[in-house]
Amino acid sequence: MPIMAERIHQLSDLVSNQIAAGEVVERPASLVKELIENSLDAGATRIEVRTEQGGVKRVLVRDDGVGIHPDDLRLAVGRHATSKIASADDLDGVTSLGFRGEALASMASVARLSITARRASSDQGQRLEIDGGREIAFTPAAHPVGTTVDITDLFFNTPARRKFLKAERTEQGHIDRVVRSIALAHFDVSLELNQGSGRGILSLPGGAPESRLAGVLGTEFVVRSIVIDESAPGLRLSGWVGLPTHSRSQTDQQYFFVNGRMVRDKLVAHAIRQAYRDVLFHGRHPVFVLFLELPPTAVDVNVHPTKHEVRFRDARNIHDFIFGKLNRALRDVRPDTAAPARPTLPARDGVPRQPALMLHSSRLDDREVREAGGLPLSGGLEVESNPAEIPPMGFAVAQLHGIYILAENADGLVVVDMHAAHERITYEKLKQQLGSKSVVRQRLLVPETLNVSESEAERVEDVAESLVELGLVLERSGQQAVTIREVPALLADAAAELLVRDLLADFAALGTSQRLEVAAEELLATMACHGSVRANRQLTVPEMNALLREMEQTENAGQCNHGRPTYLVQSLVDLDRLFLRGQ
Ligand SMILES: Nc1ncnc2c1ncn2[C@@H]1O[C@H](COP(=O)(O)OP(=O)(O)OP(=O)(O)O)[C@@H](O)[C@H]1O
Ligand SMILES: [Mg+2]
Repeated sequence: MPIMAERIHQLSDLVSNQIAAGEVVERPASLVKELIENSLDAGATRIEVRTEQGGVKRVLVRDDGVGIHPDDLRLAVGRHATSKIASADDLDGVTSLGFRGEALASMASVARLSITARRASSDQGQRLEIDGGREIAFTPAAHPVGTTVDITDLFFNTPARRKFLKAERTEQGHIDRVVRSIALAHFDVSLELNQGSGRGILSLPGGAPESRLAGVLGTEFVVRSIVIDESAPGLRLSGWVGLPTHSRSQTDQQYFFVNGRMVRDKLVAHAIRQAYRDVLFHGRHPVFVLFLELPPTAVDVNVHPTKHEVRFRDARNIHDFIFGKLNRALRDVRPDTAAPARPTLPARDGVPRQPALMLHSSRLDDREVREAGGLPLSGGLEVESNPAEIPPMGFAVAQLHGIYILAENADGLVVVDMHAAHERITYEKLKQQLGSKSVVRQRLLVPETLNVSESEAERVEDVAESLVELGLVLERSGQQAVTIREVPALLADAAAELLVRDLLADFAALGTSQRLEVAAEELLATMACHGSVRANRQLTVPEMNALLREMEQTENAGQCNHGRPTYLVQSLVDLDRLFLRGQ
């Protein structure tokens, strides 16, 4: 494009504010975030949020904070106007959530905004109304001590941006997540979110951390998590991390706060992933709510317009601190959680269930397969009738640490990661059935009903039809409940509830339902993972052999769904070399 022959001119305030707003106000949920943060900075103990049409029609936030002096009201919505810092030095040690003096000005330039506030020192409130950056009213108004900001018609004057807004439910979901994440960092503040349109009200009274935690992440997380509180000079890491058995197929329940600010940080994410590496099955993600506190001067919060990112002065040290402390905490709980998977499976019809295991081989006695014996020490060739025909994967000899199957084949030793291998087999079978539109379903004797969030229940309504193709018959059975009626027959023994919960998390991450077809394989992978033998499950020799035979018949059997190898072979020649035999 040729350079314009225009002369240079200053942009109008409205245009430059709208440009700045592009960075601050991504979507309605950004309004909710900025407004709640202002209320928290103002010392509020009660914050009420109301939205209409996913926040596009209206976002209203009312608080009982210190309010704003009438003479400051106009300044508050002006650009680069803040009460929170005064100099560049203050920026180095900022402890408030806001500091740019941009949020209200940005919002006022892309929507209609009214702000009403009263301080304790005055007996009357004052209201300022702005319409697309232009003041239209400045009048006294009745208001209790505190502030109310009412924003309507987001992006009414920037139609191009309005087009990028997603369906109402999607925006409501984002708002819900913003409120929940802020709620986690401020246990003592009462929060209420009312999104209208028949949705329930999210009410989070201030109080004990555990009840807040249960309100946001569910009671199960409170029971199945470990409390963390670790310190080092100038650093403190506290909060809750989910037990490895309380993992998810998505990263949607991960909350990390740095000095009270929710951040997404690659370094932190890496440290936590590393800490879980040995205790989590691949493809699973931990659930956590963690707070890192450090002197404000040790972290730069001014690196991203939405403040979602931070920069640590001593990144390496912080990485190692987080990794080290979490790794130790997780290792300490291992003996408990490493119990065989069998007792941890939820009971159905009051009868404890068998762990998921689907083995199909004509050579097997079903009863034998079902009985999980002790660690088999003999087996292998003697068990099989014809030693001359050694199959490629060989015959099982033993199981190692509940994780690996050791087998003997013509070359030497075969080591199989039993979960990875079984997962691949289940996945390939499901994929085949899906391809021929014939996923075999099995009715649950007693349909299982689970409590989910409202947006998850809505999602089920949206995708129920497509799910039938994947072999799942689910229906919404209440405002916050869904019922599982049928599951893929291949997964009949898997814990249906856990399976469905993970799928719901997948949907939330996928966004719209149209992508369901595209994502079918990803969803199958999640399902396969549930239908597969878990580590620490003792297998009998016939069970192990059945798995080996299935591997021989499965495409891609050499890799699990996540690309890791499922087995390796140590030939006798390799072994001889290791032992320096014949040299
Ligand atoms: N709910 C509120 N209660 C009291 N004062 C408020 C409230 N909301 C805004 N203010 C005042 O208005 C000023 C401007 O708010 P705004 O959100 O635009 O900027 P900020 O919070 O200072 O910085 P940032 O742009 O990083 O959010 C604040 O510094 C504060 O003094
Ligand atoms: Mg602010």
